Amino acid sequence: MKPTRSDFSAGVSGSDRERNRADAFAPAVLSVVLPTYNERDNLPVLLERLETALAGIDWEAIVVDDNSPDGTGELARELAHINPRLRVIRRVGRRGLSGACVEGMLASSADYVAVMDADLQHDETLLPRMLAALSGADNKGGADLAVASRHVEGGAVGEGLSGVRASGSGLANRLARTFLKVELSDPMSGFFMIRRAEVERLAPKLSSQGFKILLDIVASARGSLRIVELPFVFRERLHGESKLDTLVALDFLGLILSKLAGDLVSIRFLMFMMVGASGVVVHMAVLFTLTELFAVPFTAAQTSATFVAMTSNFWLNNRLTYRDRRLKGLAALRGLLTFYLVCSFGVLANVGVATMIYREDGGPLLIGIAGAAGAVMGAVWNYAASSVLTWRKA
Ligand code: GDD
Ligand code: MN
Repeated sequence: MKPTRSDFSAGVSGSDRERNRADAFAPAVLSVVLPTYNERDNLPVLLERLETALAGIDWEAIVVDDNSPDGTGELARELAHINPRLRVIRRVGRRGLSGACVEGMLASSADYVAVMDADLQHDETLLPRMLAALSGADNKGGADLAVASRHVEGGAVGEGLSGVRASGSGLANRLARTFLKVELSDPMSGFFMIRRAEVERLAPKLSSQGFKILLDIVASARGSLRIVELPFVFRERLHGESKLDTLVALDFLGLILSKLAGDLVSIRFLMFMMVGASGVVVHMAVLFTLTELFAVPFTAAQTSATFVAMTSNFWLNNRLTYRDRRLKGLAALRGLLTFYLVCSFGVLANVGVATMIYREDGGPLLIGIAGAAGAVMGAVWNYAASSVLTWRKA
């Protein structure tokens, strides 16, 4: 049997204070997860607007702040002293919208969880209708997921997106539809409400990297969610700036690839492999330039090319693959050295495996298999070892 509020307050003989505390601990019906990174000017305004929009609903807000340098986290905590609806999660040494949303949702005990941007671009007056769509109060049977869409009748991008962003977003939508079979008019929306039970079920499949949490949820659910889309107009940002940059496009590609690969490989691993492939190109370019243009002897050229490629791989991985754990200053130098170390063992693993498979009478096919197996072994080793040695978790 589900415990009720009175079960908790019963037996706390006569203490009103205790009884009130028990009341306060009872979970809200709706948790609104607000990921924040430098939203100091927007957060208080948003909380006020939520208070108005959600009047009559038992709700709470969960701010998930990635240690914003502008002090959004401290401000949120101060606000929580005067606003019992507010809870704050502070994440240190981590960055990323999807991860923040997942953590916020998993911190909820409410029946329904909403995720919305904290920068006032999302229309909070839509929340009660989203809730009605999930609870069945709108007499349409109760959905599992309500998505605020800019692309259904009545919705619009308004002033919220630049021209480049808008066309990029259109392309991403088509890719999602083609490759992931996600039939949503706006899979990139960052504004939705879902039954918490569904989040609990899907959580192990969700990636914490990137921005595309909704797309990830819908793709991971593989058609098992009843979805409704509600129109809204994406507003212009007034304070602060967007944290979405061009790298987000890469994240998105990574998400598509990893979902296609059936969740077997992580986005991080795919990114690491893409960087590795770019390293091969760098290596060959340096090798040919040195030997052909500057007549450098082969061994010296090959050694230089190896170091240039390792360095560019390190730099790219530090910027892309591990940008949530990016090493800076002295830590970056230390990281580079450990990366060299890791890669030199990677070469040993590569050559070792390849020689084990290779036989002199094997012919070209076996050479191919041996070479590829060696390369894969080296790559997997580099990935595994560098994740522990170079970009270990803070
Ligand atoms: N905790 C945390 N960590 N929050 C973050 C991070 C992060 O690394 N990056 C961004 N946020 C928060 C911001 O503070 C804001 O509240 C919200 O996430 C959205 O970030 P913006 O930087 O304002 O994103 P946007 O407006 O460019 O993009 C929005 O629209 C896109 C569709 O065009 C987001 O809703 C995207 O999810 C959406 O795809
Ligand atoms: Mn925004």
